[in-house]
Amino acid sequence: SKKPVRVAVTGAAGQIGYALLFRIASGEMLGKDQPVILQLLELPIEKALEALRGVMMELEDCAFPLLAGMEAHSDPMTAFKDTDYALLVGARPRGPGMERADLLAANAQIFTAQGKALNAVASRDVKVLVVGNPANTNAYIAMKSAPDLKPGNFTAMLRLDHNRAASQIAAKTGKPVSAIKKLAVWGNHSPTMYADYRFATIDGASVKDTINDQAWNKDVFLPTVGKRGAAIIAARGVSSAASAANAAIDHMRDWALGTHGEWVTMGVPSNGEYGIPKDVMFGFPVTCENGEYKIVEGLPIDEFSQACIDKTLAELIGERDAVQDLL
Ligand code: NAI
Repeated sequence: SKKPVRVAVTGAAGQIGYALLFRIASGEMLGKDQPVILQLLELPIEKALEALRGVMMELEDCAFPLLAGMEAHSDPMTAFKDTDYALLVGARPRGPGMERADLLAANAQIFTAQGKALNAVASRDVKVLVVGNPANTNAYIAMKSAPDLKPGNFTAMLRLDHNRAASQIAAKTGKPVSAIKKLAVWGNHSPTMYADYRFATIDGASVKDTINDQAWNKDVFLPTVGKRGAAIIAARGVSSAASAANAAIDHMRDWALGTHGEWVTMGVPSNGEYGIPKDVMFGFPVTCENGEYKIVEGLPIDEFSQACIDKTLAELIGERDAVQDLL
């Protein structure tokens, strides 16, 4: 049987953590033949660590055959030791009266420390997924704080936006989500993201031609996907957690085990593709093979799409510039 791999999860006692850990331990992320050791990080405060102890008791009580070990940590330097996968979920939420700049600064502190810890102690091939918001900029900060790791080890989660877009298209066309291929979401995990179905097919037919309604794209589809997070908060009173955890599982599984030629969306550092400045952590269509992702290149960008990409890029550049001095 396979040697266990180490999976670090931060914010492990939070609501995404609660929807995520059991699925990792049951083999849904890395395969039903891959044992895992969970290295769980929480804030060094009694309430958070006590809640984490409760979650670990429940994990024990599941008696998962693939759960080869479990550790609780309050310091990233021990939590990330030798870790092969790191899901950075914990982040500082916006509090009452907190300005955007304060939010960016508080998270810059967290992700600088975590990037440095990954740089110092994680596996050299660690695959890092940042879920905690602002996810793209937090991933950028962690990457910049880890100069000894390859930039491509760091990614941000755009998969929830991708999955939301796929479901909206499935509902509109009356086809199953599994029939949809070649969907892309460009840019920031924020309402400015650009979900793009120009290349998508559904049962082999063009989604764009099947829907044939640019007003629906612009006035219904894009705002629905962009504001979905807010709609869930309005309905549930708390932010999306199960769907976010599900997207994190999808992202890591596809990165580790491959997409067999199919496109998925990942936030990854640009190498200049599509005119996105180098190192900006941007949502791109990618394929994955042998544990590596590859950006889908050479897609034509029309005027409407360019305007959407420019807008989400401008937001990301603004976030990057706001944290530059803190790195
Ligand atoms: P939550 O508040 O329920 O849990 C967050 C947990 O992280 C808490 O237990 C907290 O103690 C812990 N934490 C905070 N700072 C930490 C640090 N420096 N080190 C370790 N642990 C730390 O929040 P929830 O609902 O689980 O969401 C987590 C994050 O994911 C939020 O930033 C949220 O905005 C983001 N999110 C991102 C999505 C995406 O698509 N990229 C989708 C949904 C949520």
